[in-house]
Amino acid sequence: MRSITLLATLATSALSIVLPQSSEDVQLPLVIWHGLGDDFQREGLASVAELAEATNPGTYVHLIHLVDDGSGDRSATFFGNVTQQIEIVCEQLAADPILSTAPAINALGFSQGGQFLRGYIERCNTPPVHNLVTFGSQHNGISEFESCKYNDWICNGAEALLRSGRWTNFAQSRVVPAQYFRDPRELDQYLAYSNFLADINNEREEKNETYKKNLASLNKFAMFMFEEDTVAVPKESALFAEVNATTGEVTHLQDREIYQADWLGLKQLDKAGRLDFKTTPGQHMHLSEEVLQDAFKEYFAPLENKWHMSGLVVQHDA
Ligand SMILES: *[C@@H]1O[C@H](CO)[C@@H](O)[C@H](O)[C@H]1NC(C)=O
Ligand SMILES: *[C@@H]1O[C@H](CO)[C@@H](O)[C@H](O)[C@H]1NC(C)=O
Ligand SMILES: *[C@@H]1O[C@H](CO)[C@@H](O)[C@H](O)[C@H]1NC(C)=O
Repeated sequence: MRSITLLATLATSALSIVLPQSSEDVQLPLVIWHGLGDDFQREGLASVAELAEATNPGTYVHLIHLVDDGSGDRSATFFGNVTQQIEIVCEQLAADPILSTAPAINALGFSQGGQFLRGYIERCNTPPVHNLVTFGSQHNGISEFESCKYNDWICNGAEALLRSGRWTNFAQSRVVPAQYFRDPRELDQYLAYSNFLADINNEREEKNETYKKNLASLNKFAMFMFEEDTVAVPKESALFAEVNATTGEVTHLQDREIYQADWLGLKQLDKAGRLDFKTTPGQHMHLSEEVLQDAFKEYFAPLENKWHMSGLVVQHDA
């Protein structure tokens, strides 16, 4: 149903190039990447998708998944090589007939899904992301692993591996949270062995200009931090800040080298008013419908005709 609605919208817009007097705004599709321990078939995610549709009617929503069944998809939030997982998502989005023909897409990342979407943008970005919104993501990594519920054997297995040998090739190629583990006290090991975050954050000697160019091409990048978050440690990682675990001192993104030397284009975005730092009350991922709805209105609203017309012209030529 949703796809039909969007196809109709795009067709009407294409017509408006021929008949400029008709004007209709375009509703970009939305992709959602869920967090650790979740899966794409959960009810919670379905209601987020419904809310996105209700807030901005005509939104085609795609729930990113690494495996086609729920339990396999959940397991892939704990185990796998994040580089390969992002490759799968790049192929998945590029192969979707609606996403791949839209002028651009919006992206919503929950928890680790947020930094993974950033990875998608930096490495692939086809189809290109217009606005990226992340909630409680670990853009600057985690320095502790979350406590699992005692009977959650998949989570416990991942946690044990992370504690025992987080910098081993085994953990870095198989345990997902290990690949965004970043303790400032272990920075040398992190730079040497991190399979994902050190690369995607352009923290190594050799910088990838594509990462910077792609991230800076966002229209908006909005980061939300949960004020009472005790699950993702440190919570300020959601805003790309660094925390000294001994003193508790927070170094905000603007005071960090990653920003000042602009390894990722974050400074460029910020100076253009396109980087938003937001806080929201509550524990990790305790999202109210109201907070989500406000975010959907602010970041995923339909685009004005003028913008999408040029987008469609480009698309027609392609
Ligand atoms: C930078 O990233 C792009 C996209 O992933 C990749 O194609 C390219 O090889 C990388 N460049 C370097 C110098 O690693
Ligand atoms: C993860 O997968 C990528 C792509 O296949 C590979 O190049 C890399 O070596 C793997 N990482 C580890 C730590 O094995
Ligand atoms: C944390 O702060 C203390 C006191 O200023 C300092 O000695 C230590 O090096 C800092 N830790 C890191 C990882 O920067």
